[in-house]
Amino acid sequence: MGRKNKLGRIADVERFPNVFEYKNFKENPDLKGKWHRHIFQNANPITLELACGKGEYTTNLARKYPERNFIGIDIKGPRIWVGAKQALEEPLENVRFLRSFIDHLENFFVENEVDEIWIPFSDPYLKKERKRLTSPKFLDIYRKILTPGGLINVKTDSGVLYNYTLDVIEQENCTIEQRIDDVYHEKHNHEHLTTIQTYYEKMHLEAGKTIRYVSFRFA
Ligand SMILES: C[S@@+](CC[C@H](N)C(=O)[O-])C[C@H]1O[C@@H](n2cnc3c(N)ncnc32)[C@H](O)[C@@H]1O
Repeated sequence: MGRKNKLGRIADVERFPNVFEYKNFKENPDLKGKWHRHIFQNANPITLELACGKGEYTTNLARKYPERNFIGIDIKGPRIWVGAKQALEEPLENVRFLRSFIDHLENFFVENEVDEIWIPFSDPYLKKERKRLTSPKFLDIYRKILTPGGLINVKTDSGVLYNYTLDVIEQENCTIEQRIDDVYHEKHNHEHLTTIQTYYEKMHLEAGKTIRYVSFRFA
């Protein structure tokens, strides 16, 4: 994408009514604890897609489950632009995007405000474990905002990130709901894993990589 196009998308995202942007690293009183009553104006459960990129899980699940709310979160505006524009045009009333670092989720959500989390194809950060979105540091953040029993779904092409996540799940005494070591070759009935493909997933599939999935809950 050219620089002009990128800047255009950043400007668009700033004015899109379905995208919120972080302005600083402080608590956001307009959003935190306000998603049900003020933003979505319903009491429907909220699913987050973290490191959402173009937001394929957000838009596709939102279309399928109009009785649920979906928020895609990523720091990169030009990527969020794709899902946000689609959601505005259709329109998908149950979709919002948040441009922020995931490290600051506690500034945007109160305890029990989130029902489910998807983390598709987050960066494996081969040399910086702490930056991985399934590190204990991030699980501590998710624990604070998820409802009891809330599900975390991780989909990845990275064997390193997958094995690391399985280790962290064990260390943190979480309960695995479903583990699929090869999404496209193992038999399972989780249709969203094959019917929804993200931008990065398509590239990994073309490169012949194995796609893995694990879902888990805090004990
Ligand atoms: C490999 S891409 C995957 C994007 C998308 N999920 C997909 O599968 O196409 C990883 C994304 O995570 C975002 N990201 C990485 N660390 C982040 C963080 N701490 N906070 C917010 N976004 C982050 C990047 O901006 C990037 O869009």
